[in-house]
Amino acid sequence: MVTRKQFNDYMMPVYNPAHFIPVKAKGSIVWDSKNKKYIDFASGIAVTSLGHCYPPLVKVLNEQSKKVWHLSNAMTNAPALNLAKTLCKNTFADKVFFANSGAEAMEAAVKTARKYANLKYGKNKNEIVAFSDAFHGRTMMTIALNGSDRMTNGFGPMPAGINHHPYNETEGLEKIINKRTAAVVIELVQGEAGIIKAKKPFIAKIKKLCKENNALIIIDEVQSGVGRTGTLFAYEQFNIKPDIVTSAKGLGNGFPIGAILTKNHIAESMQVGTHGTTYGGNPLACSVALEVINTVSKKRLLTNVIKKEKIFINKLNAINTNLKCFERINTAGLWIGCKLNVTDTVNLDTVLQQCYKNGLMVLKANNNTIRIAPSLIIEDKLINSGLDILEKSIAQLQKA
Ligand SMILES: Cc1ncc(COP(=O)(O)O)c(C=O)c1O
Repeated sequence: MVTRKQFNDYMMPVYNPAHFIPVKAKGSIVWDSKNKKYIDFASGIAVTSLGHCYPPLVKVLNEQSKKVWHLSNAMTNAPALNLAKTLCKNTFADKVFFANSGAEAMEAAVKTARKYANLKYGKNKNEIVAFSDAFHGRTMMTIALNGSDRMTNGFGPMPAGINHHPYNETEGLEKIINKRTAAVVIELVQGEAGIIKAKKPFIAKIKKLCKENNALIIIDEVQSGVGRTGTLFAYEQFNIKPDIVTSAKGLGNGFPIGAILTKNHIAESMQVGTHGTTYGGNPLACSVALEVINTVSKKRLLTNVIKKEKIFINKLNAINTNLKCFERINTAGLWIGCKLNVTDTVNLDTVLQQCYKNGLMVLKANNNTIRIAPSLIIEDKLINSGLDILEKSIAQLQKA
């Protein structure tokens, strides 16, 4: 039997995984190697949006695995073409590029924006504006976009030309978005920061300044996209027209895939040989993602996300009335941040461990927020049972 010790023995210590090892999962239930059962409010990190081993996805993956696994990008393939067409039909986009992860999609987005600005306005238009508390990934460009010392320490020099501004702060934006700006990179809901939404005046000013300065708007929907917030992509709710959107996580429901979506006039800047990746457009990943998009774009599923969000809100508020454990509850569809009232015994780590002990998987956001990102089709009774476990866990810690 595998053990957690093997992780310490053989794997680079960049993670600190839980002490149990999940071996099997179905829908929103996960079993560990000792056959202990957990309700899954995490979905990886907002990835398995149709639950684990969703039968239609298992079916398309099995079928595709018997046809063709991989072709280089010297050829195209049917699943990639069908997925690209479906994404374009369901969004603002005319063109798609496939990558393998969120960070890789972000890299492609920044490269595309810079190339476009370079060709259209000259080489001095290359600056990227990003915001405080952002999370865009762990590659060199994306840690530079995140901007926090915690992520960049020891990895310098960072890629140049990135300027930061406080999220949701309109003052001073006009100094940072200017003629040299190629693109502004923004999450409309910041997940890692605790499910924080962009405010209307902030968005309005970014739109105005980008228009005046011919800067593109790149919206990072790696975590917020594919139904998580109750629309296929979150930008639909924010009165903003993206130039480029990045997607990953929920797009493959656990099968690695990333994508950028953009308009024809921008895509044209990326001619043959300017960018590429071995696995981008992989037929296995694309056949799964096509089924995901066909399922998640259904109106009924998206309406249910909002219904299920309400169940969470009502019950979390009731828990808070009982236990006074949350300073704030933020939600954006089935993406929920509960900012903890930290005490001697109740903090993010103790809550996480106690939830594991009682059979519930939740996530962290920043250093004081419990993040909940369940499957978009989690059964209502599991929402209630999971929240009972959360309440019991916090109550136990308060008494400790
Ligand atoms: C908003 C956002 N952007 C980008 C990324 C990076 O994605 P990946 O981990 O697939 O590289 C993440 C991952 O958590 C994310 O939440």
